[in-house]
Amino acid sequence: MNYSTRSEVYRQIISLREQIEYHSHRYYILDNPEIPDGDFDLLLNELESLELAHPEYAAPDSPTNRVGAPPSRGFSTVTHTTPMKSLGNAFNEQEIQDFDRRVRQLVANDNPVDYIAEPKFDGLAVSLCYERGWLVQAATRGDGTQGENITRNMRAVLKDMTLIQGSAVPAKLEVRGEVIMLRKDFDDLNEAQIRSGQKRFANPRNAAAGSLRQLDPAITASRPLRIFCYALGEVSGNLQFKTHADSLEWIRSLGLPVSEQIESVQDAEGCLEYYNKMLINRDNYPFEMDGVVYKVANLQWQEQLGFTAKAPRWAVAYKFPAQEAITQVEAIDIQVGRTGAITPVARLTPVFVGGVTVSNATLHNRKEIQRLDVRVGDSVIVRRAGDVIPEIVSVIQSKRPDNTVEYAFPEQCPVCDSVIVYPGEEIIARCSGGLYCRAQKVRSIIHFVSRKAMDIDGMGEKMVAQLVSEGLVNTVADLYRLDFETLTKLEGKAEKSASNLLKAIDSSRSTTLARFIYALGIPQVGETTAEILAERFTDLDCLMGAGEAQLVGVPDIGPIVSKDIIAFFDQQHNQEVIQDLLEMGISWFSEEIISEAPSELPMSIEFSPFRDKTVVLTGTLSMTRDQAKSMLKRAGAKVTGSVSKRTDYVIAGEQAGTKAEKARSLEVPLLDEAQFLEMLGEHKLMLQ
Ligand code: IVH
Repeated sequence: MNYSTRSEVYRQIISLREQIEYHSHRYYILDNPEIPDGDFDLLLNELESLELAHPEYAAPDSPTNRVGAPPSRGFSTVTHTTPMKSLGNAFNEQEIQDFDRRVRQLVANDNPVDYIAEPKFDGLAVSLCYERGWLVQAATRGDGTQGENITRNMRAVLKDMTLIQGSAVPAKLEVRGEVIMLRKDFDDLNEAQIRSGQKRFANPRNAAAGSLRQLDPAITASRPLRIFCYALGEVSGNLQFKTHADSLEWIRSLGLPVSEQIESVQDAEGCLEYYNKMLINRDNYPFEMDGVVYKVANLQWQEQLGFTAKAPRWAVAYKFPAQEAITQVEAIDIQVGRTGAITPVARLTPVFVGGVTVSNATLHNRKEIQRLDVRVGDSVIVRRAGDVIPEIVSVIQSKRPDNTVEYAFPEQCPVCDSVIVYPGEEIIARCSGGLYCRAQKVRSIIHFVSRKAMDIDGMGEKMVAQLVSEGLVNTVADLYRLDFETLTKLEGKAEKSASNLLKAIDSSRSTTLARFIYALGIPQVGETTAEILAERFTDLDCLMGAGEAQLVGVPDIGPIVSKDIIAFFDQQHNQEVIQDLLEMGISWFSEEIISEAPSELPMSIEFSPFRDKTVVLTGTLSMTRDQAKSMLKRAGAKVTGSVSKRTDYVIAGEQAGTKAEKARSLEVPLLDEAQFLEMLGEHKLMLQ
């Protein structure tokens, strides 16, 4: 930013300091931040650079000279034997190269430097002091000099790690680390909080901080907190470690948790490689990271490099792109799903967050809107973490315009006017209109034509909506009655694309039973359940006539799903549509043709190299995906859609893209089609 006069600079410095004080208090003391962490970092960065350019305005009590916030009331205060400093932040490659160059020049005679690269856990820093193996004091970082005494709470977190045993334990030992909450535990906790009518936490970090800084340790004990240790503090005796990695290994040998993702890297280049790898896999780890940390490996060099007022010169944090951002709510719309589920959606001023532009966020349900009290016109924090649909985590009350009104959840379906109901104890609202509701009809047709169902290429959402609103398609069977003339009359439909679409409709007539079952859109019957049903019943009539006893005998199907299946086939309307579809020529191979007789399966699987393996298919193979999938399944494999550490093989055809890349970075074995067939072939030979 450019400021034309010195007084403008001064005013901006004062304003930034005030804003930072305000937000620090909300973050560190109240565990209830009002702005995303990334925005806080930006304020601090701007202040830092202004103070650097105008040293005459620097002040000893500026937040730039401070770490965190002083301890809050309620806990006694602990003075750290050695200060708990913060880390300098880097936001781009250049800053990492600069860091590496500085280190190289200062201590390594311009030779390559080894670093220990670690995840930067998004939790809160703690210091653990042990005497003769017993935990005698635990403290938060506080302002770096003084923290809060949270010993009783930490005992609840550490459980049997409250006592460290063994002859190697020094009389005095201080270990530092980060207390965090795993993503899954955070989701479960939030669900429980909502069920008991309590506050939902905005993110795992806030949940961890809020759970640890409880005056009643029993509450902390009931929360799923974990710790990862990343450094030693004061240690008595004369332990001599050469590298930071050695000290981490020693901490691990004492039985304290140390991250498994720590690696030795060399140079800026090694640092950047590690960053990219961790960033690509960010969502696959069970915990949240807000970046990675590099520490000079050589401890003697660490000592030589020392500290600035706030942070070590021997370490730096390279931050990941923010997963939260501020934007405005432009409207709140209601979406009606295929089975009538009503979901409120916030339409947002587009904002770049978590690597994509987000313009919609789910508001989940009526209760969630009430809890957030979100209104049109509000400024909100939107969060997009992993593959999860973007959510609003909080409303910035202080930015609320004057004329907003509380959102009134509709009592009638906005599409068909039918009454909105809340079946059972569900918090989910449903439109009671069934297929009378145009929205439900449109959504169920979109589901029917989708890729994993009947796979009618070229039939998009807009087109389906148009066909339904013009009365050309009333049930999914009507799709097979469409002709060239009707299609070319539709708005924007060229002859070429109309004939392509007709071809796609026609070829969808020959399908598999599993796809057909899935396409019907039976509530709770997803792709996998449909496959299991097809495998078990092999015949549509048998499935349609199955009673609860037969259905519940099928793996993965419980009484609730079986009720939905029976209710679906009981409805005359559904029976008629199915009959109509069959008359329109929908057919599938009987399962025997594409798979071996079930009695042969156990033997063939026994020797299979794919037995119990998790396999992902990607790219174009010379056979169809379904064929490859069915071959793998017969060989005893589980075929899944996304690559993770648990994947055993990725079979990559032509033009394989991100999934193959991910497999490489996770070191999951990649097979091309020839290798895949060879492995299958070898297995067949063994059977002969
Ligand atoms: S080392 C003197 N290592 O990040 C350096 N900190 O922004 C002390 N953090 O206060 C910190 N993961 O709460 C270090 N692997 C890691 C870390 C880590 C998370 C936190 C810690 C620290 C903050 C600084």
